Amino acid sequence: MLLRPATADDFTFLTEMLLEACNWEGTPWFSLDKLRSDDHAWRYIGGWPLAGDIGVIAEVDGVPAGATWARLLTAERPGYGYVADDVPELTLGVAAAFRRRGIARALLTELTASARQASYQRLALSVDPGNPAAGLYRSLGFEKVGVSGTSDTMVLAL
Ligand SMILES: CC(C)(COP(=O)(O)OP(=O)(O)OC[C@H]1O[C@@H](n2cnc3c(N)ncnc32)[C@H](O)[C@@H]1OP(=O)(O)O)[C@@H](O)C(=O)NCCC(=O)NCCS
Repeated sequence: MLLRPATADDFTFLTEMLLEACNWEGTPWFSLDKLRSDDHAWRYIGGWPLAGDIGVIAEVDGVPAGATWARLLTAERPGYGYVADDVPELTLGVAAAFRRRGIARALLTELTASARQASYQRLALSVDPGNPAAGLYRSLGFEKVGVSGTSDTMVLAL
């Protein structure tokens, strides 16, 4: 597996991974068209890359297998896991064929390093407590700081 920074060329793959995150339970609630027209969900990727965005791609044999990225979303247009204007919120997805081999853990570890390098103080996210990703986040030091709708907001101090 190779980890590399996400670039403008990764927009389509990142969008696919956002779709995976929106449909994490396996039911395809979101189509690509619905995702694009859903202002709240689309704000995680629209215009990628914006100033302040950071992201990591995992490749296996030259094929994108997973991605995580973080973006500053402000109080005016917050994300589901919004905590403050200076705390970027991350998105994570690994393509189904590449799951359960440590890719998400490796991606998050790399994103955390990139966030520190970018001088961010914290990373935030929103996760359904039933998503296996929640345990992964906890194991990396993310702590629950609140609830938004049915999801938990978690924060990592960098
Ligand atoms: C959640 C997701 C990112 C995990 O990716 P992955 O590459 O398979 O995860 P990893 O292999 O790095 O596993 C990390 C840990 O989570 C656990 N885990 C991952 N998927 C799991 C599952 N379906 N059930 C139980 N545990 C799981 C692993 O056991 C592992 O723990 P360990 O390191 O202690 O063994 C992936 O399943 C996915 O893309 N899901 C859909 C999108 C999504 O839910 N994104 C997060 C939204 S908040």
